Amino acid sequence: CGIIGILGRTAVSERLVDSLRRLEYRGYDSTGVATLDDGRLERRRAEGKLRNLEARLLAEPLGGDAGIGHTRWATHGKPTEHNAHPHATERVAVVHNGIIENFRKLRQALEEKGATFASDTDTEVVVHLVHSYLLMGYSPQEAVWASLPQLRGAFALVFLFNGYRDLLIGARRGSPLAVGYGNGETYLGSDAIALAPFADGISYLEDGDCVVLSREKGVIRDANGAVVAREVLKTGGASFVADKANYRHFMAKEICEQPDVVGRTLAHYVDMSAERAALPIKLPFHFSDVRRATITACGTASYAGAIAKYWIERLAHIPVDVDIASEFRYREAPIRKGDLAIFISQSGETADTLAALRHARDKGAHTVSIVNVPTSTIARESEIVLPTLAGPEIGVASTKAFTCQLMALAAFAVAAGAARGEISASEERGLVRELIEVPRLMAAALACEPQIEKLARTIAKTRDVLYLGRGTSYPLALEGALKLKEISYIHAEGYAAGELKHGPIALIDENMPVVVIAPFDSVFEKTVSNMQEVAARGGRIILMTDARGAAEAAVEPEATILLPDMVPTFAPIVYAVPIQLLAYHTAVIMGTDVDQPRNLAKSVTVE
Ligand code: G6P
Repeated sequence: CGIIGILGRTAVSERLVDSLRRLEYRGYDSTGVATLDDGRLERRRAEGKLRNLEARLLAEPLGGDAGIGHTRWATHGKPTEHNAHPHATERVAVVHNGIIENFRKLRQALEEKGATFASDTDTEVVVHLVHSYLLMGYSPQEAVWASLPQLRGAFALVFLFNGYRDLLIGARRGSPLAVGYGNGETYLGSDAIALAPFADGISYLEDGDCVVLSREKGVIRDANGAVVAREVLKTGGASFVADKANYRHFMAKEICEQPDVVGRTLAHYVDMSAERAALPIKLPFHFSDVRRATITACGTASYAGAIAKYWIERLAHIPVDVDIASEFRYREAPIRKGDLAIFISQSGETADTLAALRHARDKGAHTVSIVNVPTSTIARESEIVLPTLAGPEIGVASTKAFTCQLMALAAFAVAAGAARGEISASEERGLVRELIEVPRLMAAALACEPQIEKLARTIAKTRDVLYLGRGTSYPLALEGALKLKEISYIHAEGYAAGELKHGPIALIDENMPVVVIAPFDSVFEKTVSNMQEVAARGGRIILMTDARGAAEAAVEPEATILLPDMVPTFAPIVYAVPIQLLAYHTAVIMGTDVDQPRNLAKSVTVE
């Protein structure tokens, strides 16, 4: 969920909506704002996208120069208007990101004391709790301070109080919250993106912090109640404007940007003239001391990790375990001091990944994070940060962040291999030359778009699609299936090509498209055998390969997407392009909401 609070010098309702637009990537099930209109707490909320709230505000405008806003990704309770934030009593309103785990018990206790609840959310207990202290004569600060220790779980909260025109209170435990300072105004928001257009300076609250804001200043207290100073970072007034340029969707723009942004990431991690991998920071360990590495992430980022496993094991001979974060944190994986724990996250805020990072850090591992948002919590809490430099990614389905993650991981694997002496200097130069080719090859891969657009028309008519690959193409098959599911809602599965015969082959018939990702590499012939198994059962093969592969495929695919010839080591970075385009065009034909598919959020800050 995304939250924003403004103590302004002028009316805030439009600016609240503006910030919510920048925060929509965190969820878009329902939205709402509350302001102090003439000092009186007033709310407008709407089910669905932000435009519904805008329409509501047009019909029933809200005045007031102090306000809070929220865009929701439903956890407890359906995304209806009565479950939308802000939640409020007549004295206090709150917006919340995260989960209050003990809300049932609290709700029961509050109901017994006479509170009437209007929603099914966990959040509403917070307003009733604070309200109960206000009734007892506590000041707003005292009421919040008395309530916080009773809340279990991870959250960021922002409160607005009826009649208190110069007061916002924010609290952070687990979920991020930033304080912004502007020209006689102050702000609170889930992240810098929300605050960028107004704030000149931003400070990030630490876990357990609570801030009391007036237009003049913010007083921050830590979990023990001691007043603390948090560094104020200058934002340089940089206002991030989400701009689709001439594209129909952000996703299309972000797919097309990839040669550029992957090139930028490449330039950050290799010395182009010396043709060496060159990590831009000094590591606090020697690669030769690393006995084992873990890679932890969620969603698309976890598939980048699964691909990197092949690279790190092959080039650096470090054994790598790949885990999805929600499993890693609870499965008590043995981690030893000095292990390398790598975390991959576009947003740097994914709750499960963050929890896994803290777990690994507590066990004494060296934590390395590959993140796209340098100010994010994961970046700030990691020992080493390797940025991906993809620029803001707005489309909910990750594209350019994924390929930039792959580029950073590839350079990391080469650097590790060279430092451990597992690859020679000339091998290193060869690999770096291959990486330098990647942006150009990605640009060439984009040329298959018209063909993919045509192919998408047939995919859009199917119910299920299978994606197959071997080696590094296997995790890419998983990513291809995920992309298609996410935005077109067509069921898809990715499989290791060699596993086909152990089950999924039962699904093959003349209706089932099978997308085979097969650059001409060392396992190509094996993949050909698996394709033959599909062909023999009447399956419809869509082959993504290069000229050599097409010549040696030994089957008649329904379609061949021809990709540029390349040394196949880093092929997944290039082959990501056609699988993204296929999902994109299928979704466009299906008429789904490509940039904001149903039920998803770009940044998931709950477990
Ligand atoms: C969400 C998004 C996915 C993304 C995953 C991990 O589920 O919908 O596209 O891959 O979170 O996000 P992160 O920001 O940690 O990369």
